[in-house]
Amino acid sequence: MNFAVFCSGHGTNLQAIIDAAKKRRISAKLALVVCDNPRAYAVKRAGRAGIPVAIFGPKDFPSKKELEAAVVRELGRENIKLIALAGYMRILSGNFVKRYRNRILNIHPALLPAFKGGQAIKDAIQYGVKITGATVHFVTEDVDAGPVILQAACPVKNNDNEKTLLARVHKLEHKIYPEAIELFARGKLKVAGRRVIVK
Ligand code: GRF
Repeated sequence: MNFAVFCSGHGTNLQAIIDAAKKRRISAKLALVVCDNPRAYAVKRAGRAGIPVAIFGPKDFPSKKELEAAVVRELGRENIKLIALAGYMRILSGNFVKRYRNRILNIHPALLPAFKGGQAIKDAIQYGVKITGATVHFVTEDVDAGPVILQAACPVKNNDNEKTLLARVHKLEHKIYPEAIELFARGKLKVAGRRVIVK
């Protein structure tokens, strides 16, 4: 099974996925990296690993609809059966999500449904929670709201700042994201309403 990773930034999750695939902890083939920014460090990581990169910058397309149509064509060419969003900073349209229903994963740096949105680490510190973590979930039309596949937790320490907490959460992400991709690849995930049964 071929899968793609979509990213926009630093790509530490992409790297964890590349490394897991190399160690055969992911049996599916990472066939494509999709990125919206040619200068993202993730592009370098993909290049180093010899993985094809497709750049779809918003400025290169007259509309989101046309950008997504181009992405869909590329995914078709590469026979992509699963998409893993890893810090991809664009919200996919309802049509795109429908087309890949239950075949798009996302990783979020909190224990959903707590701290949805783009500032989950900061929000967790500000709220004062003692435990936070990471969540892999299926993507639905509502942001950060799809059925949960895997979660892992870590403490929030008294002297944490965004950097220290992000580092701890990243460790969890880098472990559970490859695991979730492998579960999908082996056909072990069954979505039953809001619940994901891991077979
Ligand atoms: C991760 O923290 C992930 O939870 C969020 O975006 C971040 C991406 O980081 N969705 P990286 O580019 O994988 O380092």
